[in-house]
Amino acid sequence: MLRDRWRTLAAVGATLAILLPLAWMWNASRLPDSYDMAAMGYPDWGGGPVDEHHGMAGMHGTAVADLVADPARRADVSETLTVTKEAGRYLVNGTSPGPLLEATVGDLVEVRLVNDGVPDGVTLHWHGVDVPNAADGVAGVTQDAVADGEEYVYRFVVDRPGTYWYHSHQVSHEQVRQGLLGALVVHPTSVDPEVRDQVVVLHRYGSSPTLNGTEGVTTLDADPGDEVRIRVVNTDNGMAPLWVTGAPYRVLAVDGTDLNQPGEVTGEKYGVPAGGRVDLGITVPPDGVRVDFNGTTTLVVGQDPTDGDQPKAPEEFVDLLSYGEPADLGLDVEHPDRRFEYRIGKRPGFLDGRPGMWWSINGHLFPDVPMFMVTEGDVVAFEIHNGSDDAHPMHLHGHHAVVLSRDGKPATGSPWWVDSLEVKVGESYEIAFLADNPGIWMDHCHNLPHAAEGLVAHLMYTGVESSFRVGGDRDNQPE
Ligand code: C2O
Ligand code: CU
Repeated sequence: MLRDRWRTLAAVGATLAILLPLAWMWNASRLPDSYDMAAMGYPDWGGGPVDEHHGMAGMHGTAVADLVADPARRADVSETLTVTKEAGRYLVNGTSPGPLLEATVGDLVEVRLVNDGVPDGVTLHWHGVDVPNAADGVAGVTQDAVADGEEYVYRFVVDRPGTYWYHSHQVSHEQVRQGLLGALVVHPTSVDPEVRDQVVVLHRYGSSPTLNGTEGVTTLDADPGDEVRIRVVNTDNGMAPLWVTGAPYRVLAVDGTDLNQPGEVTGEKYGVPAGGRVDLGITVPPDGVRVDFNGTTTLVVGQDPTDGDQPKAPEEFVDLLSYGEPADLGLDVEHPDRRFEYRIGKRPGFLDGRPGMWWSINGHLFPDVPMFMVTEGDVVAFEIHNGSDDAHPMHLHGHHAVVLSRDGKPATGSPWWVDSLEVKVGESYEIAFLADNPGIWMDHCHNLPHAAEGLVAHLMYTGVESSFRVGGDRDNQPE
């Protein structure tokens, strides 16, 4: 009798010993209805030599909402983008992809975003443009989601020529997939009139992969000898391989930065990370040239050199680690002021109360992830390691980072500046950048469902204060 009772008690005790910590973990993982992103996670000051007098100085901070372009300056380019929702799809000025925006280096771009009937609210993020923080478009971090009937004005100076894109950063894993996006091209001050410019926005609508909204083959008229610059934007969640048949090509620019002395490529394909861009340079040969994307959409330039046959993809990818010629980085990467690690893993746990296998950052689950703290002027080094079972296209807002090494192998080619970097399973990248754009900046995976599953951290500057909250009555949902 007594023994039985002891047994029962022991069993109950053992069960509680398992359940109570689980209940605690479950409860601790639940996100409040509204929270200040800057107060989440734990401050990470980086492993480098930290100069004491910058540390926590300047605590009477600048609010995110005040980090704007010169309000007195007149806009050089003004656009209004009106977002509507029809049958689950998002349209920008009635189309998806939305209108191509074009500007010239140095221009002040002003875009008025109008929400005409989207119940969830919308924002616009300028992917790859190092905008002032208040123009970054992240709901709950840099602005409130723009509710139905409301508007928001984005103002920023475009200071580097290149290929960029815009997309919503409110419920982004849903809104981007359903078409709330478009391309932005910043032209250099002197444009070569001989070079044809063609933007290619890749986007999959449901089960239909498209090129500028068109399935299958798109033809660009061109004559033999013409020079074409093809600006590819990958707006999908997975890497987009492309290959060129009929002519060699050059990788002219990546993520809005020209490469130094890019050589001719033949027999290799190129992989555009999710969110990433690449500019290809091709001279049209007499029989024409075609670019195949993913084996699903095609751009024929001039004639089709294969007469409609689907060419096979080359086996190997161009490796930017050794492509082109080195040049001065303009950054002292040997002596970074901060060193951070961004180790991606996957582990069981609770994400906002939901049990499952979730992405982890440095062993922790969102929101208990590092807040990477920097001071304006710091040279920052990151080691990104992918110890999980899937690739992650990592995107840092507001900055461009240069790749220093991969798996310990130093970069020997052209300076390779990125805002969207594909980190494959098992890979480690070392990157560096200059902290020259104060604010609170997302640093997340651009496979957007992964971001919604917690693969999100932030870079934060000392002396900057939040102006917005995630959740709340504005229902700000950046992911
Ligand atoms: Cu293209 Cu945080 O986004
Ligand atoms: Cu990912």
